[in-house]
Amino acid sequence: KKIAVFASGTGSNFQALVDAVKAGTLEAEIRLLVCDQPSASVLQRARKEEIDRLSISPKDFPDKGAFETEIVQQLKLREVEFIVLAGYMRLIGPTLLQEYPGAIVNIHPSLLPAFPGKDAIGQAIDAGVRVSGLTIHYVDAGMDTGPIIAQKEIRIHSDDTKDELQKRIQQQEHVIYPEVLQELFTKGKKSVSL
Ligand code: GRF
Repeated sequence: KKIAVFASGTGSNFQALVDAVKAGTLEAEIRLLVCDQPSASVLQRARKEEIDRLSISPKDFPDKGAFETEIVQQLKLREVEFIVLAGYMRLIGPTLLQEYPGAIVNIHPSLLPAFPGKDAIGQAIDAGVRVSGLTIHYVDAGMDTGPIIAQKEIRIHSDDTKDELQKRIQQQEHVIYPEVLQELFTKGKKSVSL
């Protein structure tokens, strides 16, 4: 599969995907990194890996439709078939959803539908739940609401700080995201059991 990764931040999941492609465990070609934050360190990672980068800010466009139309053009140029969100902090709008029906996935650090949106890990700690985790799901117009592909539970210890829990969740994300994508791409599955 020819894929694009969308990210806004550090890009540790982007890196895990790159590493899995290099190792041959994820049979995909990362054709483009799309980033909406010019200072995000994921851009440096992509440069180092010699992956094409599209650094693009919605502020430079009259509206979301125009912003996404430009992204779609760049994706089509590179024959991208599938979009992987990895810490992309923006809702996907109708333009992208129409161009890539059933071909956009996201990873979220909670057991959805619990704790959608920003700071899912802080939300879980504040709620005092004993178990949280991560969810990989198809993307629809809502905030972290599309059909669920796979979930993994992660226990929260009574003395966990947000940083500690985040670290454990991310370690799992880096292993599971490439595995689940490989299953989707090679077996054409709609959901994956871990
Ligand atoms: C991940 O924890 C992911 O679940 C969430 O955003 C975070 C991105 O981290 N959607 P990174 O930029 O991949 O390090």
